[in-house]
Amino acid sequence: MGRIAYVNGRFERHAEAFVHIEDRGYQLADAVYEVWALFDGKLADLEGHFARLERSLSELQIAMPMSRKALTLVLRETVRQNRIRDGLLYLQVSRGVAPRDHAFPTNPVPPAVVITAKAIDRTEAEAKAAKGVSVITVPENRWGRCDIKTVGLLPNAMAKQAARLQGAAEAWFVDDLGFVTEGASSNAWIVKADGTVKTRDTNANILRGVTRHTLLDILQAEGIAIDQSPFTPEEALTAREAFITGAGALVLPVIAVDGKPIGSGTVGPMTSLLRRLYIEQAQASAL
Ligand code: PDD
Repeated sequence: MGRIAYVNGRFERHAEAFVHIEDRGYQLADAVYEVWALFDGKLADLEGHFARLERSLSELQIAMPMSRKALTLVLRETVRQNRIRDGLLYLQVSRGVAPRDHAFPTNPVPPAVVITAKAIDRTEAEAKAAKGVSVITVPENRWGRCDIKTVGLLPNAMAKQAARLQGAAEAWFVDDLGFVTEGASSNAWIVKADGTVKTRDTNANILRGVTRHTLLDILQAEGIAIDQSPFTPEEALTAREAFITGAGALVLPVIAVDGKPIGSGTVGPMTSLLRRLYIEQAQASAL
């Protein structure tokens, strides 16, 4: 992590930045978050992440902690103080600090805000993307509101740990009907034998990925066929290519599922093209 964190109105040294023990984010996971990719110190998909933040907060009846304009200034200042060019910017907003009670505080408290940033080595990230990654599958065991980006990430953390223990980079949740919902921290995609790019629609219980949304716009602009319907792990294994999207992954090739290769078991041309197009677009439109 960067050396400086923003905590409730102040920039603090990271090692000395703390939240209160009665922060509802800590005690009850009563908090939401957002993650922006940083390109050359600028925020990618700025508006898309803001729109989702506002929606997550409003679904939980937590107030925006400050205006979009003020929050943008603080986000940028965190990037500046940490001198980050390429990296990730994290924002957590909790309902605030109040004596422990499951129900919301009766006397309104201000939302609590934490912002941190970390640098990413793009050369390393590109080397990883050039090799591709493996995913495992795990049973879907999350709550019914995965469209809200809450910090309640225990099932995601458990799934990611299971992936790591099996030498994989991501875990795909599979629902009761046998369909992949999404990754522990990314959306899941395949490229069908006929070249159609497939990812499930967001009426399902998944996060409405901002990277997913931008990539769909790119696909449309490029005239590439899109299929927004669910797929099974078996279908992924018969696909030509697979990949994941997210602020961290960007567009990252998946070359194996549960130890079995997808297509040729190497990074495919469509995924490489889409990674390049997404990065170009994100870089050009970062603010
Ligand atoms: N994760 N699905 C889940 C469960 C996620 O946690 C994420 C992002 C995505 C992709 O969303 P987006 O394209 O808006 O980043 C999908 C972030 C990066 C994280 O938890 O670190």
